[in-house]
Amino acid sequence: MGNRERRIEVAPSLLASDFGRLADEIKRAEDAGADRLHVDVMDGHFVPNITVGPFIVEAIKRNATVPLDVHLMITDPLKYLGPFADAGADTLTFHREAVEDPRAAARAFRDKGVHPGISVNPESPVDGILDVLDAVDQVLIMTVHPGFGGQEFITENVEKVRQVRAAGRPELHIAVDGGINEQTAALVCAAGADVLIAGTYLFKSADMKAALASLRRACVDPR
Ligand code: DX5
Ligand code: ZN
Repeated sequence: MGNRERRIEVAPSLLASDFGRLADEIKRAEDAGADRLHVDVMDGHFVPNITVGPFIVEAIKRNATVPLDVHLMITDPLKYLGPFADAGADTLTFHREAVEDPRAAARAFRDKGVHPGISVNPESPVDGILDVLDAVDQVLIMTVHPGFGGQEFITENVEKVRQVRAAGRPELHIAVDGGINEQTAALVCAAGADVLIAGTYLFKSADMKAALASLRRACVDPR
């Protein structure tokens, strides 16, 4: 499957939304054309920030009509797998850095009925996941240091997208997370990414529908 035939999915990251008006923000993202909603879970330990737990994920699920893409930036993903799966995560991504045996973790996630995803931090080599690509449904390449929205895209990580695309089966989702905008979307799509996670660029835009469309456009002809 060449990149031109691959359907691009856009996942607005709720981290950049107004949490005081979560239901409205979910609707705004869905009306703008979101394919999924990205939810960042941070524990103040794996990353220096704290966000939401299963209770809020469950509330998001109740208000959403598109699938939930839940990103676990936590030290012990296996301990909290059950609560997040039960809260309604559709894809549930753990970090390679947080598990000893990524294949066993992916199997446990799949057994819980979620699509397993695996993520690597910007400083982690991609070699650590290449031998488990068959066990996951998504690879999430961090293109900023995890923990906060609104950071600048780290260009060196585009090469990881290329490596995973070359090594994985065609239907494997490759998501990119951090600093995604019209320009960086073109780079990652040309390298083979098919899931664009974007917080600031979408939620802080005056017209989210236009911003979301610009990401898709950047991927149709990435040159
Ligand atoms: C960062 C999170 C991202 C974040 C991206 O740790 O994983 O999902 O929301 O935000 P932007 O798009 O603003 O870089
Ligand atoms: Zn994320």
